[in-house]
Amino acid sequence: MAAENKGKQGKITVKNLGKQYDAADEKKHMLFSKNINPDAIFQDDEEHYVLKGVNLTIEEGEFHIFLGASGCGKSTLLNIIAGFLDKTEGSVLLDGKEITKPGPDRGVVFQNADSAIFPWLTVYKNVEYGLKMQHVEKDRRKKIVENAIELVGLWEHKKKYPSELSGGMKQRVQIARSIASNPEILIMDEPFGALDAQTRRILQDELISIWQKTKKTILFVTHDLQEAVYLGEKISIFSAAPNANIAAKVTVPFAYPRNLNDGEVAEFTRGVHESLDKAMNAHGDKVIDKSAIAGRGFLCGS
Ligand SMILES: Nc1ncnc2c1ncn2[C@@H]1O[C@H](COP(=O)(O)OP(=O)(O)OP(=O)(O)O)[C@@H](O)[C@H]1O
Ligand SMILES: [Mg+2]
Repeated sequence: MAAENKGKQGKITVKNLGKQYDAADEKKHMLFSKNINPDAIFQDDEEHYVLKGVNLTIEEGEFHIFLGASGCGKSTLLNIIAGFLDKTEGSVLLDGKEITKPGPDRGVVFQNADSAIFPWLTVYKNVEYGLKMQHVEKDRRKKIVENAIELVGLWEHKKKYPSELSGGMKQRVQIARSIASNPEILIMDEPFGALDAQTRRILQDELISIWQKTKKTILFVTHDLQEAVYLGEKISIFSAAPNANIAAKVTVPFAYPRNLNDGEVAEFTRGVHESLDKAMNAHGDKVIDKSAIAGRGFLCGS
């Protein structure tokens, strides 16, 4: 049976997806998690959708980037695909099957490694943890863990605890842990957002190499336009919330490794920037928060 399914692993199909949070919950969430005053955006308690009519196909093995203003629903979409959140309407299929809950076929890498890895476990034990939970037999487990740690370049650090690791190394632990479960899809929500520029570039290169070796589908959210063009095969650009959907889909036409200083690549990046600007203004001025973009060097060529 597994062999029969081999041809299609890691394909995501999103059809007419809509997500609505309880209006009061959403306001609280904006206020406390995002530090945004919801009254400046919503006049009353009117019900609205965060995501509405999202249609998207992500082919198996694709490196797919999501770009969009803060609050447009990128994490919401990834959390629905990860199975952490229920949708309100539409369907989200993984290899033709509706996603209803989390599963080992999807590995998730969060922005904040500190809240994702266990501080009381070594690198090795952190990476091993999920496999133990899945009752993977000891010898096989050892092989998988060693491979994953090797793949992310943490071999010399395998006995260290998270408190002894840099931010970049902790992100590597998260990536190794996800890969160890051999998911079909890696779901990464701004995984390098908190890292310094140099570490970020090193990890970007490592991720490309891991993707090329493992052929996994990667879903990757970033606010960094340069990162999007450096990494992605396809870029989906969200319109602004409320009722956000995918306003533009772009194929990045350059081979890896890419040189962002190359004239054609820079020109292409400017084009993506323009598409993003248009998408953000697709609902007039109702953009929840542009600061996440403007504040992070997102506005290239300006
Ligand atoms: N658990 C939740 N409960 C209620 N509302 C939520 C919840 N999570 C997100 N929201 C709201 O849904 C909207 C989209 O949030 P989401 O976190 O998906 O945006 P995002 O595009 O990932 O933003 P950012 O770029 O800042 O991470 C926001 O208005 C947010 O406040
Ligand atoms: Mg987010």
